[in-house]
Amino acid sequence: MSPLIQNIVLKKSKAEKIVMLTAYDYAMAAILDRSGVDIILVGDSLANVVLGLATTKEVGMDAMFSHARAVRAAVKNALVVVDMPFVSVQPDSSRALFHAKRFTEEAGCDAVKVEWFDKCPDVVRSLLAAGVPVMGHVGLTPQTAEKLGGVKVQGKAPDEAQKIIEQAKALADAGCFSVVIECVPEDLGRKITQELKVPTIGIGAGKHCDGQVLVLYDMLGLTSGKVPKFVKKYAEVSTLMTTAVQAYAREVRQGQFPDESQSFHS
Ligand code: KIV
Repeated sequence: MSPLIQNIVLKKSKAEKIVMLTAYDYAMAAILDRSGVDIILVGDSLANVVLGLATTKEVGMDAMFSHARAVRAAVKNALVVVDMPFVSVQPDSSRALFHAKRFTEEAGCDAVKVEWFDKCPDVVRSLLAAGVPVMGHVGLTPQTAEKLGGVKVQGKAPDEAQKIIEQAKALADAGCFSVVIECVPEDLGRKITQELKVPTIGIGAGKHCDGQVLVLYDMLGLTSGKVPKFVKKYAEVSTLMTTAVQAYAREVRQGQFPDESQSFHS
């Protein structure tokens, strides 16, 4: 296990919360890294928030790979994890190792994240055997949301909750160094966190998880439209940007930009 991953795993025994956020480009990743975030996830939420696609299922390896490289180039301290997109693991997982190695060996990411599906533990074992560290993801798994009744809270009924506990345990037993739990009742987040030896990272899974993750664009107020209930907006960056862009447009139209201080003379 690399020292960076060991450091994340040890945080659970030290009861130190793990801070994770998504990033998709060089500039944003550099800010997150300078701010002391523990884990930066190149999430396949890239599909929704950056590429304007309807579902995460639609993003392919080429896009994930190029954004992973951009984030890697910026990050000096945090652990860089990248999502295995739907096409890299499903419906046929035979090439999952090939794609995962592109992320770690060519793009230089520290680990990959895999959303739960039936063959997930086997895929995790094969990646680990080849030296690729893996983070798991249970609860609401957006890549297969249609099989879960859509994008909604998972594990409300006791039998559903039990299924999610078993999935999380199967991923930890297969060797995942950490498991993301998305959109489940707080009690279920607590139960999984108590039962796993590896850290859990919650997104809409309550305060008892060992760490928290949010989609960067949601927490910065950059996402247009409605954000999920579990999002807390820490800024309204889209308002700031609109004000700045409108000021620029006004000054260009009125001939006020550029002025002397932005001009060259021979
Ligand atoms: O793609 C993503 O942003 C994620 C987080 C929601 C955990 O998987």
